[in-house]
Amino acid sequence: MAGHVALAQALSYARDLKALHQASRARERELGQANARLRAAHRQTLRYAEDLKRTHGRVERVFLHSLQALAHALEARDPYTRGHSERVAALGRSLALSAGLPAPVAELVAQAARLHDLGKIGIPEVVLRKPGPLTAAEWEIMREHPLTGARILAPLEFFVEGTSIVRHHHERQDGSGYPDGLSGAGIPLGARIVAVADVYDALTSDRPYRPGLAHEAALGRLRRESSRTLDADLVTLFVDLVGDAPPARPV
Ligand SMILES: [Fe+2]
Repeated sequence: MAGHVALAQALSYARDLKALHQASRARERELGQANARLRAAHRQTLRYAEDLKRTHGRVERVFLHSLQALAHALEARDPYTRGHSERVAALGRSLALSAGLPAPVAELVAQAARLHDLGKIGIPEVVLRKPGPLTAAEWEIMREHPLTGARILAPLEFFVEGTSIVRHHHERQDGSGYPDGLSGAGIPLGARIVAVADVYDALTSDRPYRPGLAHEAALGRLRRESSRTLDADLVTLFVDLVGDAPPARPV
């Protein structure tokens, strides 16, 4: 009798164990399916994040190009500045390559050069187009344009170095420039490059109060500015680069 009870109990345990095993297998399958769903959701989220990043990059680039078009349009209204930034961009790109910078960095210098005077959008026309020397107060306003330009560009996360070039294109080697009074190698290289190209193009362009200098005379001025305001090595490279013939003036 006792043997029958023990057998019945053992069979009952075995049934319970089987049921438990089946329940645990079913739970395992559910967990596996839940895991697969989680992995799929994770992959989908990663795809969304990549799409979003690409879209963000595209929006930033469209914004940059719109600002370049705006800078172009601002200059085009004035016959004395028409084409200035595009010429500075072309000269800046060539000088950057001569200085041994890789092509993508030279392109960044050119992009920043196209925008270097964008901050002049905040300067009243009477100051911007005054056909004579500026007063001290008017100079104060004029000297704000690198900061204004950098503020406009600040939201472009991918253009941090370009924004820095715009901010510092009026710094001078001896520290007498603006807005931060940086000197020598403390001035970002791209800003030193744009400064050389900017000064050359300004010197060779007509102004309401004086005609533009001839190519040779402008190079002479650049050589005299070497070390005091402009990077001497870059001036030497620039003089070698443009040589005897003035660069083309695309407008
Ligand atoms: Fe400027």
